Amino acid sequence: MDLQQTGDDRGSLVVCEINKHMPFEAKRFFHIYGTQNGIMRGIHANRNSSFFMVCVKGSCQVDVDDGREQASFYLDHPAKGLFVNSMMWKTMKNFSPDCVLLVLSDCVYDETEYIRDYDRFIKEVHSS
Ligand code: TYD
Repeated sequence: MDLQQTGDDRGSLVVCEINKHMPFEAKRFFHIYGTQNGIMRGIHANRNSSFFMVCVKGSCQVDVDDGREQASFYLDHPAKGLFVNSMMWKTMKNFSPDCVLLVLSDCVYDETEYIRDYDRFIKEVHSS
């Protein structure tokens, strides 16, 4: 998803609006930075939370898997956003050293909604 980007001689400005770019009202954001080469993050699914990811600096790869199909996305520009629905297995990797990955979510943090075992995830996908 391309966010709205404007710019003038003062620099660039990127806009992300509910319903136009991002399909939910955010209740939480977190950002990931200082990730060393070779590190993978995520590697889990969330039963309830959806996410909207923007790499505001640097780049990284986000692999998503709905239990049936897999796709990889490269976030390499601050005006690119990626919506990741709930019940998606996701892995973030190939972080550039300067990467700052901003993640917005429609839910507050709740460890009990995490599925950290892939077989369990597949079981829940196919039982729904
Ligand atoms: P973790 O789920 O391992 O992060 P990632 O999905 O990026 O690999 O979370 C790391 C730690 O941060 C863990 O102790 C839980 C905590 N945490 C929160 O307290 N709130 C949050 O919103 C998130 C995403 C993590």
